[in-house]
Amino acid sequence: MALKLLDQILQGESGTTRSMTADEMKEWARSVDLDSLCVKDYCATNAECYTRNRVHQNDHFELVVICWKPGQESAIHDHGVSNCLYLVVSGEMVEDRFRAVPEGDPEPTESCTYQRGDITVAVGAEIHRIANRGAENLVTLHIYSPPLDENVTMFTPIPRPKTS
Ligand SMILES: [Fe+2]
Repeated sequence: MALKLLDQILQGESGTTRSMTADEMKEWARSVDLDSLCVKDYCATNAECYTRNRVHQNDHFELVVICWKPGQESAIHDHGVSNCLYLVVSGEMVEDRFRAVPEGDPEPTESCTYQRGDITVAVGAEIHRIANRGAENLVTLHIYSPPLDENVTMFTPIPRPKTS
C-alpha cells in the first residue's frame, strides 16, 4: 500500500522539491482508497503507548502510520513549522483543541470526533491532542510537511513505553 501512496506524492513537485500545502495534503488524502489500503505492515501496537510507524521521510515530508489502542493519546502539542494531515483509516479519533495562553498551560477550546475516511489538517501553531477514546484500535495515516522537528512544542510529556 504504502509504496502506491508514496508514489502519488513522489511523482509531483510538492513533497519532492518543496513542502506540501494544507490543500495539497487534503487533495492527496481524498484520493486514498481506504477499501484497498493495506497498512498491516505498519500496525504494530504497544500496550503502553501509541506506536508511530514511519513509511517514508525526505527533506520535505514524512508519511507515518500511527496505531492507538483504546485509551491511548498523544501529548498536547503544536506542530512547529509543519502542516500535519490526519486521515482516519479505522476506529474513531478524537482531537482535543487548545488555545495558547501567554503564561500557563494551553486552555481547551473544543473536541472533534472523526470516523473512518475523515480528514483534518493542523497547521503549525495550532495546539491539539489526539486520542483514542473508543473501544476499538485506532489507525491513522499522517503526513507532516516539512517533517516534524525540534520546533515542535510539547506541553505535556510525550507518552513512551516504560523501560525497566
Ligand atoms: Fe498533532
